[in-house]
Order: sequence, then C-alpha cells, then structure tokens
Amino acid sequence: MRSEPLVLGIETSCDETAIGIVRGRTLLANVISSSVEEHARFGGVVPEIASRAHLEAMPGVLKQALIDAKISLNDLDAIAVTAGPGLIGALVVGTSSAQGLAIGLGKPLYGVNHLSAHIAVDSLNSDHKLEPAIALLVSGGHSSILQVNNLTQDVKTLGSTIDDAAGEAFDKVARILDLPFPGGPSIDSAAQSGNEKAIEFPRGLTLAKDLIDHKFDFSFSGLKTAVARYLQKVPNYARADVAASFQEAVVDVLLLKTIAAAKESGIESVIIAGGVAANSRLRELAQVRFEAAKLQLRIPPRSLCTDNGAMVAALGSLAVTRGIAPSAGGLSADSASGITRPIF
Ligand code: KG4
Ligand code: ZN
Repeated sequence: MRSEPLVLGIETSCDETAIGIVRGRTLLANVISSSVEEHARFGGVVPEIASRAHLEAMPGVLKQALIDAKISLNDLDAIAVTAGPGLIGALVVGTSSAQGLAIGLGKPLYGVNHLSAHIAVDSLNSDHKLEPAIALLVSGGHSSILQVNNLTQDVKTLGSTIDDAAGEAFDKVARILDLPFPGGPSIDSAAQSGNEKAIEFPRGLTLAKDLIDHKFDFSFSGLKTAVARYLQKVPNYARADVAASFQEAVVDVLLLKTIAAAKESGIESVIIAGGVAANSRLRELAQVRFEAAKLQLRIPPRSLCTDNGAMVAALGSLAVTRGIAPSAGGLSADSASGITRPIF
C-alpha cells in the first residue's frame, strides 16, 4: 500500500487512444489521440478502424505522456488499463500494451472498469472525501444512477436506462437533425442559439404510474421518436430550437431523478460523470438545481468527462492506495463488464 503512487493509465475502449499519469490524486499528464474524424463519415465508430488507430497512436501518446509528466517508465509504481466495457478489439490493444509494459518493467498491472474510472476522475486534484456519493453516470453506452458506497468495492445501481443511453440519444437525434457525429457536442453547440422552451418534448418515465417500477430508471427512445415525428410534422422546423428543446428534455430528467435519488438515500454528495457530463446545459442547470436542493455537486472539468487516460490512472491509483491486489497474469478484456467489477 502506498500513499502517493505514480500510476500510468491506458484507455482504448472506444475511439480515443489516451494515456494519463497521476501521482496519488495529482494529475501529471493527460494525452489523447482521437480517431473520431476517421469514423465521422460512417456516422458512428467503426471497430476495426478504431483498433488500427490505437495501434498506430499508442507509441506516440505514451512518449508524450512521459514527457509531460517529466518521468521515465522506471519511476512508475503501477500500470492501469481499461479492461472493459468497450469494443473488444480496441480493448485488446490497450490490455496487450499494458501487459507488455508491466511485464517488461516488472511493475504491477491493474485492469480497471471504464465506468468506475469515469467516476474515479472526480478524485483528481482535490483531497475531498470521495465516498459515499450518488453518481449520475452518463456516457455513450450507459446512463445510470449509482450509490457509490466504496468505488473500488461496493457500488449499487439505483436505476439505469431501459432503452437508449443519454449519449446514444444525443447521437441518434443529431443524425436525424443532419448534425455531424459525434452528436453530443453538435447538439450542444446547435442548442446555444435555440430556445429550449420552443417545443415541449416528453420526459420519459416521469409519470406517477412510471415511478412505481421505474423510479430511478431512464427511457430516451420515446423522446427520440417524438423528435422524429416533430420533424415530419413541421418540415421547415428551426434546428436550433429542436436541438435546445431535445437537450432540455434529456437534462431535465437526468437531474430530476438524480436529485430524487440523493434525497431518498440521504447522501448529499453527487458526482456527474461520463461524456454527457461535458454538456453545457447539463452543467449549467445542475449548478442551479443542486444549490436549490442543498446538495453538493461535483462535476469534473469538461476535458475529463469524455474518455481519457487520467481517469484510468486515477482509479489505478485508488486501487494501489487502498491495498487492492493487482490483476492476475493473463488479464483478459471483458467487453460487457458491469460496474460491479471495478478492478479486474
Ligand atoms: O464517456 P464517453 O466519452 O464515451 C463512452 O464511454 O461512451 O461518452 C461519449 C458520449 C457520446 O454519446 C457523445 O455524444 C456524448 O458522450 N457527449 C456529449 C457531449 N460531449 C460528448 N453529449 C452531450 N453534450 C456534450 N457536450
Ligand atoms: Zn466513456
């Protein structure tokens, strides 16, 4: 067990080849190479292209991270790597690279969960108490409300999406609005000049009858259909208004249910994490609503919300500090692993 371990974290679960380096809870380097532009013309991430791009980018990203952190590989106390969930071919590039480094250097290796890592990034550059917390985890593939009793050991799912993830809804609605991939940032910027009250889109699973079985669950596919119907009905629609009104519907429900979960659990600290946490309207409205609800809001800087290596290093560092055993040799990636497996 070490108090300020020097940890390198590798992230390759989707289209970002990323390496972060932390010392304890201090961020030293965060280098990202994205293949997003190679996928844009296909309207989504193409797994084979992502894997190849990871292979090509890895050496340069590693070199730059070491330069930024002003360290050499031998200084490291441990290597951490995203082992799941994610695209299997992409994950394997990361886990193989990490295994090679760990074996070559004789350093311990930690396979970590991508979702837990999104939350762990909250520990960086501050010494606040991490747990207990309620976490709203919103990414391209996941939308959940979690009760984080102990991030490396005990995380309970209070609710999750029953259909599309929030990020997925952004991506799909952007496509029908003819906005470029990835949809989240496109809708975010299109919405800047729109009126969020222009169209009253449905708030999924918020009716009294829905709350019986789905109190903290989300549903975004009805909203997506409502947007598509609106576009058919109003052919000369104002795109900025549609983007802003859609975004408002997503953000409204996310915050409504997260605040309700925090109130019910009696846990006053809430972490909002994952790619959708970079959304400017979510960040703005969260400040207002959490202050009114007298809850403590923690939301990482935008650059640490979308996929990065710093979050992987942060979770690896927590694991080392807490005396958790490294992953056994032959670490294998698990494309569908859930949050109940924070460390592999
Ligand atoms: O966490 P993340 O980078 O990758 C996954 O683990 O999935 O999340 C990616 C998702 C995508 O669906 C993307 O459209 C969304 O996050 N996203 C945003 C914004 N930036 C990224 N959604 C809304 N507003 C944004 N500014
Ligand atoms: Zn992610």
